[in-house]
Amino acid sequence: MQKLKIRGGKALNGSVRISGAKNAALPIIAASLLSREPLALKNVPQLNDIGTMVRLLAQMGVQAKRDGEALTLTAAEITEKVAPYDLVKTMRASILVLGPLVARFGEAKVSLPGGCAIGARPVDLHIKGLEAMGAEIHIEGGYILARAKRLKGCKILSATVTVTGTENLMMAACLAEGTTILENAAREPEVVDLAKCLIAMGARISGHGTDRITIQGVDSLHAADYTVMPDRIETGTFLAAVAATGGDVTLSNAAPDTLDAVIDRLRESGAEITCTPDTIRIKAVMRPAPISLKTAPYPAFPTDMQAQFIALNCIASGTSVVTETIFENRFMHVQELLRLGARINIEGNTAIVHGVEQLTGATVMATDLRASACLVIAGLVAKGETIVDRIYHLDRGYDHIEAKLTSLGADIERVN
Ligand code: EPZ
Repeated sequence: MQKLKIRGGKALNGSVRISGAKNAALPIIAASLLSREPLALKNVPQLNDIGTMVRLLAQMGVQAKRDGEALTLTAAEITEKVAPYDLVKTMRASILVLGPLVARFGEAKVSLPGGCAIGARPVDLHIKGLEAMGAEIHIEGGYILARAKRLKGCKILSATVTVTGTENLMMAACLAEGTTILENAAREPEVVDLAKCLIAMGARISGHGTDRITIQGVDSLHAADYTVMPDRIETGTFLAAVAATGGDVTLSNAAPDTLDAVIDRLRESGAEITCTPDTIRIKAVMRPAPISLKTAPYPAFPTDMQAQFIALNCIASGTSVVTETIFENRFMHVQELLRLGARINIEGNTAIVHGVEQLTGATVMATDLRASACLVIAGLVAKGETIVDRIYHLDRGYDHIEAKLTSLGADIERVN
């Protein structure tokens, strides 16, 4: 089991290049199933989850050619329309092959993802939407079995805003007969990035980025080149780290306009942030002021940044109240932060954080992807040595994070 050993207390200075967005690349890779022609991608992050998705498609018959951050996928001859449990259980985003498989081949056998550390993570809205478009779906042996002659466009109102639900149905609607309207659609930038890629492939989509997306079905999609957007959560994670440790860091290949809520809150904490269209510079010289927040769908504060802001609030100059409204169990990092001397109590879906002057290093355990990022930030500010265990969680969503942090002056190394 690999661990990260961090000696805290150093400010971060210098510049770092942000990688491509995991949560845009995953649906975009799945979208390659919609066409028999090549989809040539750039700025694809080098992450374990990306590798898992490419392996999943390769075992269906997709040809994949990877060269650094470039990835070309050709779904000419698909032999298997199956997403097996052993792969899906390691990455829930595998559910994103369901819509494309049903839309293009009229059949799919996709393992139910099952829950995960942060919550039950049901996929009922994905299934309901495909049924509304005419798919016959039943659950058998832990698998979603779907069949459809040809999906028919219709109006679908999603009871809850669901990011991958919106993405699955938007991809399915591209090849459906007639027009589909997705009401109460997710507005996340990653949904917009997927829509732009689908449009480059010949899809007819409008309203992406709003809560009402209209897709006019076409008979087929064609080859396209597409560059994946920068990862706004990686960006936010580095910004929160500098706000906590102090320093002066410039993030390049970034997309500041995709994380206004995060930048606004960091300015409230006292950080000085200046942006150009593709860079963000943060200067933090004093102890951060506490930041109370409530997570909600985009453009409100992202749930994927909640854990990182709790770490920042642990050493803030006062008390903050953080409310998690998206997932029912996304405070597992709190128990680990208490081991570092943080003062937090949980009341239902709210964490009350009393800022302390100093955290003290200890051994802590990552429980999920963003919790592990939170513990790295806490380790960077804690006095002494912090060991973060189970960092396979971290490798799912952060591309070479310790190398990037080391280049900013952090004392961090990976140990076995
Ligand atoms: C996406 O997950 C992201 N993953 C998550 O990022 C992110 O936290 C989440 O959106 C919210 O922004 C990817 O994009 C690969 P949801 P997703 O469906 O789509 C309920 C990370 O750290 N719901 O928007 O699975 C659900 O229970 C990951 O990178 C249903 O009830 O999240 C939750 O309460 C973690 N039925 C809410 O909707 C459904 O059919 C939002 O979930 C689907 C969802």
